[in-house]
Amino acid sequence: MRVPRLLLYSCALVALLPVPCSGAVLLRVPLRQGPPSQPAGPRGPSSSARTRRGASAVKFVNMIDNLRGKSGQGYYIEMAVGTPPQKLNILVDTGSSNFAVSAASHPFLHRYYHRSLSSSYRDLGRSVYVPYTQGRWEGELGTDLLSIPHGLNVSLRANIAAITQSDRFFINGSNWEGILGLAYAEIARPDETLEPFFDSLLRQTSVPDVFSLQLCGAGFTQNYSWHTIKDCVGSSQIIGGIDPSLYVGELWYTPIRREWYYEVIIVRIEVNGQDLNMDCKEYNYDKSIVDSGTTNLRLPRKVFQAAVKAIEAASSTEQFPSGFWLGEQLVCWQAGSTPWHIFPVISLYLMSENTNQSFRISILPQVLHSAIRLASHTNTSAKMCKVRCL
Ligand SMILES: *[C@@H]1O[C@H](CO)[C@@H](O)[C@H](O)[C@H]1NC(C)=O
Ligand SMILES: *[C@@H]1O[C@H](CO)[C@@H](O)[C@H](O)[C@H]1NC(C)=O
Ligand SMILES: *[C@@H]1O[C@H](CO)[C@@H](O)[C@H](O)[C@H]1NC(C)=O
Ligand SMILES: *[C@@H]1O[C@H](CO)[C@@H](O)[C@H](O)[C@H]1NC(C)=O
Ligand SMILES: *[C@@H]1O[C@H](CO)[C@@H](O)[C@H](O)[C@H]1NC(C)=O
Repeated sequence: MRVPRLLLYSCALVALLPVPCSGAVLLRVPLRQGPPSQPAGPRGPSSSARTRRGASAVKFVNMIDNLRGKSGQGYYIEMAVGTPPQKLNILVDTGSSNFAVSAASHPFLHRYYHRSLSSSYRDLGRSVYVPYTQGRWEGELGTDLLSIPHGLNVSLRANIAAITQSDRFFINGSNWEGILGLAYAEIARPDETLEPFFDSLLRQTSVPDVFSLQLCGAGFTQNYSWHTIKDCVGSSQIIGGIDPSLYVGELWYTPIRREWYYEVIIVRIEVNGQDLNMDCKEYNYDKSIVDSGTTNLRLPRKVFQAAVKAIEAASSTEQFPSGFWLGEQLVCWQAGSTPWHIFPVISLYLMSENTNQSFRISILPQVLHSAIRLASHTNTSAKMCKVRCL
């Protein structure tokens, strides 16, 4: 399905917020996964209680600030591949389930994985093709030893796709050479029998079935001042738990509707506090996913059109050419003088674990490139959501 992007333009391209992708310092969207066979899924209250207790007992100092990235180019972690280890930067992607690295020279890349230099590489004699929302690649399947220097102190054998050809996949200047798909086996290519990295990790080590991402965006502070935004960002992927030093307040969990993508349920959308008031089935058509590998909020066409209308209405103090609202025309302000206050806050409400409630993620216009902030929570009718959203 083609889903339009919700984009506003300032002088620079102003992607109105990567929802799945990024969080302010205050927020982390905990993601949990496990093999589908595991009985205590992320929905179970007992499983989440266990997670929380386990999480607070452990510190993950070595993993704090282990992600890097630039606005719009994704967050990456350093991984060591093969024997002796070859260090590569790997995009962290909750929207796919293959681990793949460049295995041939490419004009945008400084380095790539040399299979012939790894004594632990094993060829699987199969090829694989993976298309993404943007870009695609083809490669050859094998396995090798992997570790994450600023992650766990373990080495494991996992499937690896050696990318031999790609189209619009790598990004010039992004500084990453591969992708770590953290979603479930169901969406792995060529099929669900190709065990994803995280599943291999769980099978071969005693790491708890949890990981969390803190995606801070472009280094802004709690003031969300545009002036504090820098191009380079640092963030964290905590493997095996949640680090209490990385958040304040309570953690809110949203159920994973189905373990393939991290599919979640949006129960309400507001623009400046005004309910879009659509049937919440529309919000989740054909699915809502949390995807760390993209930098845009994507909405179904009908919702997108309603949201743009509401944003336009909320920003009516300023006259914009109609092309601006169609994403065809830029409107420019002098650096530092963009009138953010005229643009509305967009709030997405996710269903809470206790389905009587939902919690709100508010996106301020200032935090363009990357910010979501957990603002507060509100109650919704569980019945309504069950019937209408699912
Ligand atoms: C990549 O970007 C750099 C810096 O913008 C530029 O100099 C270089 O020509 C680009 N490389 C390719 C292959 O487009
Ligand atoms: C990692 O594990 C190895 C062997 O299990 C141990 O010798 C080493 O000290 C550990 N390193 C860290 C940083 O914990
Ligand atoms: C927030 O802004 C206020 C006033 O502009 C300033 O005094 C304060 O230091 C800022 N706080 C942070 C964390 O930047
Ligand atoms: C959730 O809703 C159910 C049914 O309406 C009710 O029995 C239950 O007490 C509610 N739980 C909370 C925590 O509000
Ligand atoms: C949510 O529901 C709880 C229990 O029913 C109630 O105590 C609380 O005041 C409600 N909160 C809001 C914001 O409506």
